[in-house]
Amino acid sequence: MKEYYFSHGRSALLNGLKLMNFSKNDLILIPDYLCEIVELTIKSTNLKFIKYEINDDFSINIKSLKRKLKSKKIKAVLFVNYFGFPQKIVELKKLCKKYKLKIIEDNSHGHGGSLKNKILGSRGDFGFSSPRKVFKINSGGVLYYKNKVTFNLPKYKYNINNTLINLLNKNFTLKTFIKKNLIFKKDFTTPITKRDTFVYNMSIDDLSLKKLRKENIVKEKYKRYTNYLIWKKYLSKNNFEPIFKKVDKNLMIWCLPFYVKNSNDAKNWFLWGYKKGITIFSWPDLSIDNIKKNNNCFKRWKRLVCLPLDMPSSFLKKICN
Ligand SMILES: Cc1ncc(COP(=O)(O)O)c(C=O)c1O
Repeated sequence: MKEYYFSHGRSALLNGLKLMNFSKNDLILIPDYLCEIVELTIKSTNLKFIKYEINDDFSINIKSLKRKLKSKKIKAVLFVNYFGFPQKIVELKKLCKKYKLKIIEDNSHGHGGSLKNKILGSRGDFGFSSPRKVFKINSGGVLYYKNKVTFNLPKYKYNINNTLINLLNKNFTLKTFIKKNLIFKKDFTTPITKRDTFVYNMSIDDLSLKKLRKENIVKEKYKRYTNYLIWKKYLSKNNFEPIFKKVDKNLMIWCLPFYVKNSNDAKNWFLWGYKKGITIFSWPDLSIDNIKKNNNCFKRWKRLVCLPLDMPSSFLKKICN
């Protein structure tokens, strides 16, 4: 598969969709547990989507998928490797072959992860990742596509906020100090907070591309793997367990998700994180529709807590001792 660099995962998705030559109002099947920006990106191309269910362990609910496949207008299925963990897709592939559907692999959470030596994001007709989520860069989204194509897009222009964040990222001690002492902390128990809803159609900026090319992916994966194990041990001491029990050094894990009893317990974890100078968070920015219906997705969202893996392992060990 060839790799094309964009400003965001959503821009890679947008351009991948355009390459598929779908017709107006064709349908894409997408998971019901997903950040709103994916829906907004699909809508911006004049395509429509319907949702299939995701189980509590983040696997694909095949029964739900099968129920939805009946419509003739469905042209593709998008699946997500949640938090960087590869989705099992044998069944999905069989179904897509039977119904002549394209497969889109969303590996936004796990840029650079691989399974049996195959890079994640490259298992479908096209796929994409979002390196800006795991590396400290201003922009970055990768499209994986089999053919050689050209894109003529403006480059992402970073602003003063990006520059300040970059500076902060260079000084971990200052960053944790600011996190501990910031008065305005994002409240992760509120589902409708200010969100990033802009469908960027840009290529990566030069500085981010240069940085990305220099990044040591193996080292980053190893750090995240080590941190995952540190958190896992800490959770076990406190009678919790990660949703994904097995972790692998070849994966690029974005964070460690686990369930608590209710949103109040989740809040206590978020506040504890702030006290320690790290961001423990909820995921995702669910669509407003999900929130209004107070459906299973929203109920799951309230109990989901995500532990960050981006810090030095020595720092995390101190927190967990
Ligand atoms: C599953 C998933 N897909 C796609 C995206 C979009 O990635 P980006 O923010 O880089 O556009 C996100 C992030 O918000 C995501 O969580």
